[in-house]
Amino acid sequence: MGKLDKQVAIVTGSATGIGYGIAKRLASDGANIVMVDLDSEMTEQSASELASRGSSVEISLGDVSEPLTAQEAAAKALDRWGRIDILVNNAGIGGTNGNIWELDVEELDRVYRTNFRGVFSFCHEVIPHMIERDYGRIVNIASIAGKEGNPKMVPYSATKAAVIGLTKSVGKELAGTGVLVNCVTPAVVQTRILEEFTPEQVQYMVDRIPVGRTGEISEVAALVAWLSSAECSFSTGAVFDISGGRATY
Ligand SMILES: NC(=O)c1ccc[n+]([C@@H]2O[C@H](COP(=O)([O-])OP(=O)(O)OC[C@H]3O[C@@H](n4cnc5c(N)ncnc54)[C@H](O)[C@@H]3O)[C@@H](O)[C@H]2O)c1
Repeated sequence: MGKLDKQVAIVTGSATGIGYGIAKRLASDGANIVMVDLDSEMTEQSASELASRGSSVEISLGDVSEPLTAQEAAAKALDRWGRIDILVNNAGIGGTNGNIWELDVEELDRVYRTNFRGVFSFCHEVIPHMIERDYGRIVNIASIAGKEGNPKMVPYSATKAAVIGLTKSVGKELAGTGVLVNCVTPAVVQTRILEEFTPEQVQYMVDRIPVGRTGEISEVAALVAWLSSAECSFSTGAVFDISGGRATY
């Protein structure tokens, strides 16, 4: 029996990359998973990989920036299993690289919709169900960019800082209940998101990691798995660094 046996987890952006790694890890700890993503083909492929390992999986396709996507994902979890124990807000995009004076405000809106509005909508939808059962673990995937601010990445850095702010606020709103809300701030992990950035931008970020390597998906997933479990019991509204030593606070 895994430590998440019979628990139900919604993981956004779980078709590939860090989100899929998290879904795999939570499933191997015993959780039933609702996979949310807008890429139907990749989600189906990843869901069947999880199912072939004996995990129970539901797919909920949609864009996280639309509140309907959160409503549908919660309904799938509740219809099939009658509970939601874990929410991992992982879906995110990098956005176009450029100085602020070179970027259109529409680019900020595009990045904001996925990286922040999505996190807001899923918290808004799922938290009442968690309050009802007086139990829940929410983990938001922010970024070291939200703490340090990467040049030529204003929409990404600012929306990730907003995820940190949301985590701190909601953690305090729910303090004293059984619902804990935390976030993690990874540095560079080799996934598809890096294709959105110029090679020079990726090099800038990698050069700033003191341990001298990029992070592994499994390392982020292990931290998220602990934050998703009952073993995490005295941390809420907190920011967990996983940046190979880059973070200075
Ligand atoms: N890879 C890194 O270096 C790194 C570092 C720090 C933080 N992060 C964060 O980790 C999270 C996962 O990133 P990743 O590196 O695995 O990226 P990725 O591009 O490999 O995967 C992102 C997943 O999210 C999905 N997605 C994107 N927009 C969506 C939307 N609007 N609605 C639903 N699904 C959507 C994609 O289809 C994809 O499956 C993101 O929030 C990212 O900002 C990544």
